Amino acid sequence: MAWYKITEVESIPSMGSRIVKIGEIEIAIFKTKDGSIFAINNICPHKQGKLSEGLVHENVVTCPLHNWDVDLASGEALGNDSGCTNVYESKIEDGLVYLNFITK
Ligand code: FES
Repeated sequence: MAWYKITEVESIPSMGSRIVKIGEIEIAIFKTKDGSIFAINNICPHKQGKLSEGLVHENVVTCPLHNWDVDLASGEALGNDSGCTNVYESKIEDGLVYLNFITK
């Protein structure tokens, strides 16, 4: 496992996201209403909309382009839609967010 320190938890808005770039990969780090953190590729499994610009509700983000709901924990499209984007393991320690870049 390779954990990388990313940012302070407080720098991510509640029910919002922050983007980090790792090489060519753009990862959206979301914070839900209860303070949970999720890290997911910033690419919608439908037509590559930027999930970081979507609306967060529960543990789901709604893509801003065509309103697909994507589960932040699994990266799976919900409802009648199908597709999946990569998610990354994350953890919070001492107020800092860490990501594990090995994809799940
Ligand atoms: S690109 Fe996300 S719903 Fe179409």
